[in-house]
Amino acid sequence: MTIPVLTIDGPSGAGKGTISRAIAKQLSWHYLDSGSIYRSLSIAVLNASVAVDDIPAILAVAKSMQLEFDCGEQLTVKLNNEDITQHLSLEETGRVASIIAAYPEVRAVLLQKQKAFQQMPGLVADGRDMGTVVFPDAQYKVFLTASAKVRALRRYKQLKEKEIDANLAQITQDLEERDRRDQERATAPLISAKDALIIDSSDMSLERVIEEVMNLIQNGLNW
Ligand code: DC
Repeated sequence: MTIPVLTIDGPSGAGKGTISRAIAKQLSWHYLDSGSIYRSLSIAVLNASVAVDDIPAILAVAKSMQLEFDCGEQLTVKLNNEDITQHLSLEETGRVASIIAAYPEVRAVLLQKQKAFQQMPGLVADGRDMGTVVFPDAQYKVFLTASAKVRALRRYKQLKEKEIDANLAQITQDLEERDRRDQERATAPLISAKDALIIDSSDMSLERVIEEVMNLIQNGLNW
């Protein structure tokens, strides 16, 4: 029997994580935050003091790292038995993740780790290439976006809530740079799958977006 998959792709800060977690909870499905796999590798690379352009060394780190995910109320990640959850959301972690995610060899190593999340009764997978590369046969696909201005502001508020020092202009610049890198890379770039429902959440509440995605699933539509 096919295990159902809902993919939610889109740029940084579009709200994919919050929406995906809420939908996974409502459906009692598993949740894959694929960005956290790239972020975990980024932490492993930084810990090993490997240069971001040393592809063979990055591959060695990727192949040997042991990751454990606990997708409870809050995501907890252990890298080689050490809790790295606090480091996942750091700007530097995201920046390096976006650089190393552009290497096709790195993506190939991380592919199986992501596919393994497809378990009964279903999976909500969020990322950049969930609907195009990792789960191309997914029954339900969403491309969730929002303007760069709105996304930067959301990120700024998130950091402030966590009492992390934040500068809106810098966040906007970093976000646009990361968008560019994610969209322009040759392998698995950030693009909407042609059968995805595109949702621009710039002027939508969280509840409204969740409702639209739930409608897609309940109506059994495949765009
Ligand atoms: O979603 P995120 O911000 O946690 O992702 C961090 C980086 O990882 C992102 O800039 C690009 C990369 N990434 C990717 O290339 N493919 C994915 N499916 C998820 C993330």
